[in-house]
Amino acid sequence: MSDGNDSRRNSMELIGTRAGTAMPIEMRQALHLKGLVPSSIENFSKQELRAYQQLMSKSTNLEKYEFLASLRSLNVNLFFRLVLNHFKDIAPIIYTPTVGEACLNYSHIYPFLYPFKTSIGLFITLSDTENMDMVIDNYRQLMADPIDPEITVITDGSRILGLGDLGVNGMGIPVGKLQLYVAAAGLNPGRTLPIVLDFGTNSEQYLNDPLYLGTRERRPDDNTFYEATERVLQALHRAFPGLLVQFEDFSTSHAFGLLDKWRQKMLCFNDDIQGTGCVILGGFISAVKQAGIPAKDQRILFFGAGSAGVGVARQLVDYFVVDHKMPRDKAGALFWFVDSRGLITANRGDVLTKQKSRFARHDNGDVQCGTLEDALEYVKPTALIGLSTVHGAFSEKILRRMNEINTQSRPIIFPLSNPETKAECTFEEAMRYTDNRVLFASGTAFPEYTIPGTDDIRMPGQGNNMYVFPAIGLGAVLCKPDWITDTMFYAVAKALANSRNEEEKTGDELYPRIERIREVSAQLAAAFITQAVREGLVKEAHWRDIVSANMPCTQDDDTIGSSVDGQFSKRVLGEVKTLMWKPAASVEQYIVESITNPNVDEM
Ligand code: NAI
Repeated sequence: MSDGNDSRRNSMELIGTRAGTAMPIEMRQALHLKGLVPSSIENFSKQELRAYQQLMSKSTNLEKYEFLASLRSLNVNLFFRLVLNHFKDIAPIIYTPTVGEACLNYSHIYPFLYPFKTSIGLFITLSDTENMDMVIDNYRQLMADPIDPEITVITDGSRILGLGDLGVNGMGIPVGKLQLYVAAAGLNPGRTLPIVLDFGTNSEQYLNDPLYLGTRERRPDDNTFYEATERVLQALHRAFPGLLVQFEDFSTSHAFGLLDKWRQKMLCFNDDIQGTGCVILGGFISAVKQAGIPAKDQRILFFGAGSAGVGVARQLVDYFVVDHKMPRDKAGALFWFVDSRGLITANRGDVLTKQKSRFARHDNGDVQCGTLEDALEYVKPTALIGLSTVHGAFSEKILRRMNEINTQSRPIIFPLSNPETKAECTFEEAMRYTDNRVLFASGTAFPEYTIPGTDDIRMPGQGNNMYVFPAIGLGAVLCKPDWITDTMFYAVAKALANSRNEEEKTGDELYPRIERIREVSAQLAAAFITQAVREGLVKEAHWRDIVSANMPCTQDDDTIGSSVDGQFSKRVLGEVKTLMWKPAASVEQYIVESITNPNVDEM
């Protein structure tokens, strides 16, 4: 009997602690707190104002990151209220670029980021992979309520945001990314699971850092890596059959290897490859429509041919095939790639990876281009896309030349590398050196630009995959397709291009404003679900019924047909919106929700 009373009191105390200064009078009385806490009973808005002021008082972005991490572990509801109401300012702190800085320092700051938590996710060493059932059991014990997680972001820290091999320090990425899934698309925070595969690091800096928190060994060979990863994925799949796995920041060959191996066996995707391709495609569709030349005359030069570059190009090829009915080989011929050795050609004399050889030129004769400048003169591109991590690579000279080459149309320039210190150029540079004619999207958020001598303020497009991965996660978690097809990503990209409002279109903005992210995520998730149902990969009758009742199925299942239109009905959109998690608006609502969903504060 006393056990029950104790646990009721403990849970009331926990909820009360998290309600903090908003704790109602009745709860204060029941917990005998009269005289022990300040008398003012606040509402959530006032708490949020205080938290925002504290956040703004921090002098560096890393301090802001630390404050927010600690707030997240103290009060999930307040944290997400703050993030949602200041999304544009806070997203770059909890995710790129500041999360990169946090990851570089993670072993030094980790214990202070989460002072109120035993664990923030799974840290799985190679030897743990032999005991995955125990690890999963430990996780279950820690949760207040045995509800399965519905999404995990999993990394081995081997190639974090273009910053290199950060080993276990890469854990900041799954943590941050899952916060964006919640904030941007309303995934349930209590059902998110960050995972780092702590299989070692090849970074001398971390191997020699006395405070490094991960396994102090070099990374294993490919066989060991794939076998160990398989043990982890199979154990997760056994324990949580509906779990969506998002692969994140693996080294390029492992990223492709894992995706190829698992994408049809379990619900999974790789955001670097597929998410990036999808978001860039969305902006690219908008840019091509505004460029002023027929799509089939586009000549697209990629600077950078890593997992992001190749992933993006694969998606763009689909656009020419699907929307412009070009044969696949003709569409592929619109693309050229430059990597660190120059223009990628079949006869340049090195062994190309499978991914690169797909885009190697065979029509170059004896011509080889060692630099971007040479390639620009040779290709005369209409679109220049940077996924190279080379800061400033789109120099004044390159940008001016792009403008000259494209006098009859508007140059499309996408410097997509993250963080800002890796971006190929800024928005200001792109505007200035193209006489403001550029159709622009970048990976990081650049400031708006006022055209000199006018009041004309232009907003840069931000081709950040933050527009799509939360929505894909939400759509997949809700309708649980057997697997995630290319056409589902395609539908999301189309829905993204369709989601711009009139003001955004008039201002040459290639993406919707980030402040509208929740509305946009709901639309994209609805498009994803609609496409998944059309493809016959959704088992749940609920979604099949509402999609087919509201929009007759027109999909030709054999091909990526033109019916991949990113459309959805109001009914599907409405249903998605209802199911999106939101932080409680009042303390009363918070208390009720904390009782019904105790895991929200756990991980
Ligand atoms: P990666 O390291 O796999 O690939 C980089 C590519 O750039 C390689 O092909 C490399 O040969 C080439 N490169 C490097 N230095 C070069 C040089 N000096 N000259 C010519 N080529 C050079 O990196 P990954 O994963 O493909 O990512 C690239 C960038 O894309 C990163 O900065 C990443 O943050 C960014 N990215 C942006 C996203 C977005 O949403 N905007 C999403 C995913 C990645």
